[in-house]
Amino acid sequence: TYISEITNVMEYEALAKEKLPKMVYDYYASGAEDQWTLQENRNAFSRILFRPRILRDVSKIDMTTTVLGFNISMPIMIAPTAFQKMAHPEGECATARAASAAGTIMTLSSWATSSVEEVSSTGPGIRFFQLYVTKHRNVDAQLVKRAERAGFKAIALTVDTPRLGRREADIKNRFVLPPHLTLKNYEGLYIGKMDKTDDSGLASYVANQIDRSLNWKDVKWLQTITSLPILVKGVLTAEDASLAIQYGAAGIIVSNHGARQLDYVPATVMALEEVVQAAKGRVPVFLDGGVRRGTDVFKALALGASGVFVGRPVPFSLAVDGEAGVRKVLQMLRDEFELTMALSGCRSLKEITRNHIVTHWDTPG
Ligand code: FNR
Repeated sequence: TYISEITNVMEYEALAKEKLPKMVYDYYASGAEDQWTLQENRNAFSRILFRPRILRDVSKIDMTTTVLGFNISMPIMIAPTAFQKMAHPEGECATARAASAAGTIMTLSSWATSSVEEVSSTGPGIRFFQLYVTKHRNVDAQLVKRAERAGFKAIALTVDTPRLGRREADIKNRFVLPPHLTLKNYEGLYIGKMDKTDDSGLASYVANQIDRSLNWKDVKWLQTITSLPILVKGVLTAEDASLAIQYGAAGIIVSNHGARQLDYVPATVMALEEVVQAAKGRVPVFLDGGVRRGTDVFKALALGASGVFVGRPVPFSLAVDGEAGVRKVLQMLRDEFELTMALSGCRSLKEITRNHIVTHWDTPG
């Protein structure tokens, strides 16, 4: 495949694999351990089939929506993925420009290779900041304040990473951030660097810097240091959805971290409905994990998601074609989602219902 011939989001992965150093490609692509959940995140979508409605006058399709009060062009947003400058020299700034051109939200990782200030200087755009809570709470508080000042509109608090999942490729490759790159958000702050070890350098970094004691009270603590709304990222059960709301979350992201943390958790699209039911409409529920097609977006919305986030397609398309690659990913997802809406007889997001799909969770596939 040549760049000009790319016709779907998945095709970027093989091209990125040819282009990137093995250590970098493996870091982006891998899941934890047996990578069962990694496959399942995709397979589960193929067990949901449509019940399309006909003769609905689909000459006009409206994909616009509102997330935490912000108007966006479509319910497809960008998940935080770390170290984007390993994929392309413009890294997170290219992603930010592509998201803003598409009229959607980008989430910047705490572990970005560009700072919150650099990303904000790319121009206007609605952006969220993903937070990893470290053992240095004053550093975290400073970073959250900087994100706020730089115009970020929400904090996505990642709650599924008290320790790093066992990603065997990173262990074999002795993964470490290439020496010309840094964790830009922490530059000059009192926090350790990522060193090369005889294990995954990132796993050691997490073990040294991330606060394993993170608990529900810290969701309250976060509210004392910022007025931004908090999305709890990494919920997979009804019980935790209820707790997240009880502890003040403005929204929930059903996520298994792209299958990179605990292996053998269900696909996010299978966990979605119980979380939606527990939320009882009190806060919006979002999903990430395996979203590669417009049909996936529709299926998540039919199960009650208010929107979805995409992870890996961003570093893969960045690696292949920089900002243009990320723009094309967002454009292809948008076009596919619009077509899915038309072919299933939905003219606006509120017309997408549970009756437009049927789940075949018992069918292997
Ligand atoms: C991630 N993810 C992630 N999550 C987070 O909260 N902070 C981070 O820094 C990262 N970094 C990161 C790097 C890479 C290479 C991947 C693949 C994932 C998880 C990410 O936000 C999201 O949950 C998943 O990527 C969604 O799944 P898909 O779309 O990659 O299948």
